[in-house]
Amino acid sequence: MSVSALSLARLLGGISGFLQLASLLGLLLLLFKAVQFLLHRQWLLKALQQFPSPPSHWFFGHKDQELKHTLTWVGEFPSACPQWLWGSKVRILVYDPDYLKVILGRSDPKAPSTYRCLAPWIGYGLLLLNGQKWFQHRRMLTPAFHYDILKPYVGIMADSVRVMLDKWEQLIGQDSLLEIFQHVSLMTLDTIMKCAFSYQGNVQLNRNSQSYIKAVGDLNYFIFSRVRNVFHQNDTFYRLTTDGRFFNEACQLAHEHTDKVIRQRKAQLQNEGELEKVRRKRRLDFLDILLFAKMENGSSLSDEDLRAEVDTFMFEGHDTTASGISWIFYALATHPEHQQKCREEVQSLLGDGASITWDHLDQMPYTTMCIKEALRLYPPVPNVSRDLGKPITFPDGRSLPKGIMVTLFIYGLHHNPKVWPNPEVFDPSRFAPGSSRHSHSFLPFSGGSRNCVGKQFAMNELKVAVALTLLRFELLADPTRVPVPMVLLVLKSKNGIHLRLRKLQ
Ligand code: HEM
Repeated sequence: MSVSALSLARLLGGISGFLQLASLLGLLLLLFKAVQFLLHRQWLLKALQQFPSPPSHWFFGHKDQELKHTLTWVGEFPSACPQWLWGSKVRILVYDPDYLKVILGRSDPKAPSTYRCLAPWIGYGLLLLNGQKWFQHRRMLTPAFHYDILKPYVGIMADSVRVMLDKWEQLIGQDSLLEIFQHVSLMTLDTIMKCAFSYQGNVQLNRNSQSYIKAVGDLNYFIFSRVRNVFHQNDTFYRLTTDGRFFNEACQLAHEHTDKVIRQRKAQLQNEGELEKVRRKRRLDFLDILLFAKMENGSSLSDEDLRAEVDTFMFEGHDTTASGISWIFYALATHPEHQQKCREEVQSLLGDGASITWDHLDQMPYTTMCIKEALRLYPPVPNVSRDLGKPITFPDGRSLPKGIMVTLFIYGLHHNPKVWPNPEVFDPSRFAPGSSRHSHSFLPFSGGSRNCVGKQFAMNELKVAVALTLLRFELLADPTRVPVPMVLLVLKSKNGIHLRLRKLQ
């Protein structure tokens, strides 16, 4: 045998030895993972013994995760029920007010397996932060929602609603049927950009705003489906998938939108001169607070922190209210008698609606009852999740160990027949003054220390939108296109929300 043939044989032998070793190691790793999976699953099954759930597949979990289907568990399994997402991934859906009171009284962190999927988009802002940093940011940003700041926003909100209604008047010249979610989203984006970011521009007629809204819709969908897909959990692998690539594109689009807002504002601040002058000149809005905190404290608020807060508020501040307003309009369209009562109340308060102010918002009790009842039936944030930081025991003695993910199933709570008799019936009298209910039976804005920081802002916006719309239009349902509620990050409808609009004379 020649020398070169000998070294080739040696090389091949070496490669095959290496391949054998690699396969053996691969096999061992697989075995290790399988044992780890089985042990963890066994531990979970034991930990959840006190919480029965419908049968599920050992690997694919509960296959039917449609809202309609999950809701049947609320009546069947008292207080809470495990939902298996896949093999060893489970979350406990909680829909009992006493249970929720215990959870919301603690400070368990947001569940990372769910919330981390939002991080490439909205970063670690107020919604995703935990611990000391969350506390500092919450304390820094709470003044942006002070009564003095919110008061003048009512006029801005009214202007944005009027732009939407003017558009509707033109559109229904051709057709009285409209998919309203898109229009309402543009209007709420307009509002948050003008209120929180002092943006001056025509958001509702601008193409960039439309592509931001489209990106937010896509991101909602990709995050929702990623959380449920066992094969999409690894970040590197997810980035290589088609969904992962579309997700990245949508993130980039959303970031372009928020970057532009920050850039414009920084430039504007430089023109206006040094901080004190600006401060004396006018009230500080949300973005002022962030930019000043950054300039004054130097390193305390990094560029990344600032961007995260802007992305968080841009999203939370418009998609939730868009969901709320669209579903309220749908609820009123399907209950014309309540719609008419609201309209009469608003007419007697505002006349032709030329002007609406902060003081009016407390003087529409029936409209407020209808808004709350719609928020009960269609909570814009249908669930939120926590990872238990320590064991928990519920009032009935059942308990869960540290490390379990609990999902505060707000939609389930609001449709729980033990809490709300005839839960599917739209009955605003449930919220009549003086009516009694459990402190944790109605949680559209969650509760405890991590409740919604924008609650008052949101309620004001809902009232302004409902009041001004009812003065201009009669809302009618389209029986051929009944919306199907779908849980994404916020409550949307699978087939959009289509209404017939009739201009009032
Ligand atoms: C109808 C409209 C709204 C609803 C139903 C709603 C609901 C909620 C809920 C349920 C949470 C708790 C989330 C969790 O625990 O993971 C929350 C948190 C939050 N919301 Fe809202 N929200 C609304 C509007 C707004 C608006 C208009 C803003 C801003 C202007 C806002 C900003 C936030 C922020 C920043 C958080 C995180 C607070 C923290 O953890 O400290 N929300 N919201």
